[in-house]
Amino acid sequence: MKTFNKQEGLLSLLDEDFNKGHTRFHRWHIDAPLYARDPAWFTTLRCFKRPMEPELTIHRDDGSGQTMQTEPGLTAFISNVQAYDLMSEEERKIADHSWVEYAPHPYQWMGDCKSKSHGLGLVNRSKEKTTEQLSPYDKKDVKRYPMVWVNPTTRVDEEPRVVEDVAEIREWLAKIQEQVLKPEYVMLPKVVEGDIVMWTNYQMFHTAVDYPSHYGARTMHQANIGASSGPIGPVPIPVSS
Ligand SMILES: [Fe+2]
Repeated sequence: MKTFNKQEGLLSLLDEDFNKGHTRFHRWHIDAPLYARDPAWFTTLRCFKRPMEPELTIHRDDGSGQTMQTEPGLTAFISNVQAYDLMSEEERKIADHSWVEYAPHPYQWMGDCKSKSHGLGLVNRSKEKTTEQLSPYDKKDVKRYPMVWVNPTTRVDEEPRVVEDVAEIREWLAKIQEQVLKPEYVMLPKVVEGDIVMWTNYQMFHTAVDYPSHYGARTMHQANIGASSGPIGPVPIPVSS
């Protein structure tokens, strides 16, 4: 039986439905280690092989009822520049003046967390690891990035408010980011064998879209172009201690 917990944003997807072509976005992300190295400026993905049919229906499965059609084996994109454009003045002001300090080894830290049904953000279940549970780390490699990434400009900053509660941060981000997660704003480039898709990694979120394995193999070659400098915000942020 399907259970939808609105608070958790979790809806279990039955194998039976998945095999009939009911799918979801996997996990929206940019390609970024978020520890030690800065994220690549650009990412390229070359389609080597993918199944071309049958069509699938992507469901947000968050109670919104939103769906869209796709061929199997594609990568979906949404624009974070567009998400910024859709924000209110007040939200933009907060985001412009905010920064994020990531946990050391952030993917280990969130390793036991679950994504929401639409793949954007995590469910708050206090499953994040403590720093003591993580592999040894070097404090100087912990990343602190501005929330908004721009070309260099500087403005006067205000007194910062440090928010330690990840649930509060996720709730604030979800309201903003979910505005851009709509079929009319999602791009699903129809790559065929031999095509290369290349995108600005600092501006776009992307995700795989799951499909039943019996549709056939999906093979992509990925190359990231190393960054000679990391993201810069609209206002200077304090340097990590
Ligand atoms: Fe990726």
